[in-house]
Amino acid sequence: MTAPRKLHIKSYGCQMNVYDAQRMVDTLAPEGFVETANVDDADLVILNTCHIREKASEKVYSELGKLRVAKAEAAQAGRKMNVVVAGCVAQAEGNEIIRRAPVVDVVVGPQSYHNLPALLKQAKAGGRALDTEFPIEDKFGFLPPPKPAAIRARGISSFVTVQEGCDKFCTFCVVPYTRGSEVSRPVAKIIDDVQRLADNGVHEITLIGQNVNGYHGEGPDGRPWALGTLLYRLAEIPGIARLRYSTSHPRDVEDTLISAHRDLPELMPFVHLPVQSGSDRILAAMNRKHTAEDYRRVIDRFRDARQDIAFTSDFIVGFPGETEEDFAATLALVTQIGYAGAYSFKYSPRPGTPAADLQETVSQADMDERLVRLQNLIDSQQSAFNAATIGRTVDVLFERKARNPGQIVGRTAYLQPAHVMASDDIIGQVLPVTIESVERYSLLGSLASPPVASSPVPPVLQPVRSHTVTGA
Ligand code: SAH
Ligand code: SF4
Ligand code: F3S
Repeated sequence: MTAPRKLHIKSYGCQMNVYDAQRMVDTLAPEGFVETANVDDADLVILNTCHIREKASEKVYSELGKLRVAKAEAAQAGRKMNVVVAGCVAQAEGNEIIRRAPVVDVVVGPQSYHNLPALLKQAKAGGRALDTEFPIEDKFGFLPPPKPAAIRARGISSFVTVQEGCDKFCTFCVVPYTRGSEVSRPVAKIIDDVQRLADNGVHEITLIGQNVNGYHGEGPDGRPWALGTLLYRLAEIPGIARLRYSTSHPRDVEDTLISAHRDLPELMPFVHLPVQSGSDRILAAMNRKHTAEDYRRVIDRFRDARQDIAFTSDFIVGFPGETEEDFAATLALVTQIGYAGAYSFKYSPRPGTPAADLQETVSQADMDERLVRLQNLIDSQQSAFNAATIGRTVDVLFERKARNPGQIVGRTAYLQPAHVMASDDIIGQVLPVTIESVERYSLLGSLASPPVASSPVPPVLQPVRSHTVTGA
């Protein structure tokens, strides 16, 4: 038997990339590859890249610089190290990578991971390979991309891709170009995946997609199913205690998704709903096709269905033309909604996107200053949200042993890490925990004994209704 070859994979960017990295590992396992955490003794290094902001893409070239040294050292020691660039930078700048970085053997785009074994053979034969083909367009639109084997269970919680690509074309965003147009997987395939993961000890499924609530996969009845319909079906699968989905667009929130939140205890009351800005002028320039008021109404529909739903969001500050007044509208929206957390970014012009041509740029100093103000506001909301759990009893799905001996860590419905002292046979169970203290992002508590029903809505979650709000 030949010794296993070692694979080191480094992933940047979104959950889809995390999932794709796992799938690449599973695709290469039959080729004799095992994962290693150490880049220096790897036979194969894959950089799974992200193109979303300039900083993210620049990382690729600095990583490649380091890999040039590692590859040369391996060669000196008589070993061959292959370097693969995958992900969204591969898709967007494949030819440039081949030209600029001789260290790279293979460039492979997100639609072509099933070809990795063949591409590596090409590289082994001494060539360099590039595969950034999008699936062939036929008269029915894009064919669903052929994908490698479904991923294997890893622990208690798992991602499952239901949808890939985006047709929204927000003017700042590269995703429609790097991931292509929206394709939904058929319902039967998703049920198979979830069933198999549940049979292998997975209790929590997060359905992922760039525009997950645009899901419209073919159902067993031959009709397109909406995300909500899919969630009702998945909740029936034994062993699945928790369902989540990410990332949603405010324009695609259908009534079945709302009613799923009302009806399904398995569907966690935690929704990532990016808004980007609170200014209608900026939202229009971003081609978001919704106003701040539309967004508030969507939030109200969720909260009407289930009052303990908490929201997170993404924001961009300093989009071209953003004035102090526009930014104030963003702060006002954040104040009105009350988030459990949010990501905020400085606008980064991306080559090939319509916004990159806009002249009215915001100065770095203004962007920096706005980012700090926004992040301070969001941080204070997040701290209040976490602090509100102290003294309450909340359900925790236990995932694994914590770093501190004797401690087991799990997550609340709101993905807050929660630590308790307990034996490891609680791993995989959902148990009520009384929260005693909060350390920045993680909660400390003890198992409620005898078990009691978890507390209802923390006070900070009481909905702020848009009709009680003026201004913005
Ligand atoms: N719907 C997608 C969004 C992906 S991008 C999803 O599946 O998550 C994640 C976030 O990055 C966006 O919501 C946006 O806030 C931010 N972003 C995208 N393009 C950007 C750019 N050019 N500059 C700054 N931030 C950007
Ligand atoms: Fe990008 Fe907009 Fe699509 Fe999200 S909805 S992936 S921000 S184009
Ligand atoms: Fe980045 Fe591509 Fe995801 S650009 S955010 S890795 S879809």
